[in-house]
Amino acid sequence: MSSALASGALDDKASEIIARYPEKRSAVLPLLHLVQETFGWISDEGIQWVAGQTGTTPVEVLGVVTFYPMFRQQPAGRRQVRVCRTLSCALRGAYHTMEALEKAFGCQRGGTSADGDISLEFVECIASCGTGPVVQVDHALHEGVTPDKAEELAAAVRASLGDAAYGKAPPVPGTPGWNG
Ligand code: FES
Repeated sequence: MSSALASGALDDKASEIIARYPEKRSAVLPLLHLVQETFGWISDEGIQWVAGQTGTTPVEVLGVVTFYPMFRQQPAGRRQVRVCRTLSCALRGAYHTMEALEKAFGCQRGGTSADGDISLEFVECIASCGTGPVVQVDHALHEGVTPDKAEELAAAVRASLGDAAYGKAPPVPGTPGWNG
């Protein structure tokens, strides 16, 4: 991560994002997304870079990183497993689903399995509230993942590790790969 940030590779994108806001500090959140999208996680150096770009302090940026569950402070696994914890999913047992997934994958929420294969985290609503508990694996959505189905999903996710096509984002209309 260090060389890319130190070389200024993201500085132009940062300037573009900051220009959309009346105050630089308002760009902390989108710049954190930029760092995570680019590197897969947010290191201490990433925090310092965002602080430098936005005229804030690393402590302020760290406060934002730790407040939002979607930000990762260690490298992501090969598969990113996200459990929705917002009201509809929570009422349908999302917290118990998370506990079952933690057990099945052998890693805690917010962490990555020891073999580096799986990252597990809570996220907020992913817009499938009627079919919760919802679990997103990379870009693949799994609905109705009640705690008793968590182990089955975990086995499918492990089995998918050799499948390069699994969980890829669907093609965007008008781009290469779109056949519609
Ligand atoms: S509350 Fe879980 S998808 Fe909306």
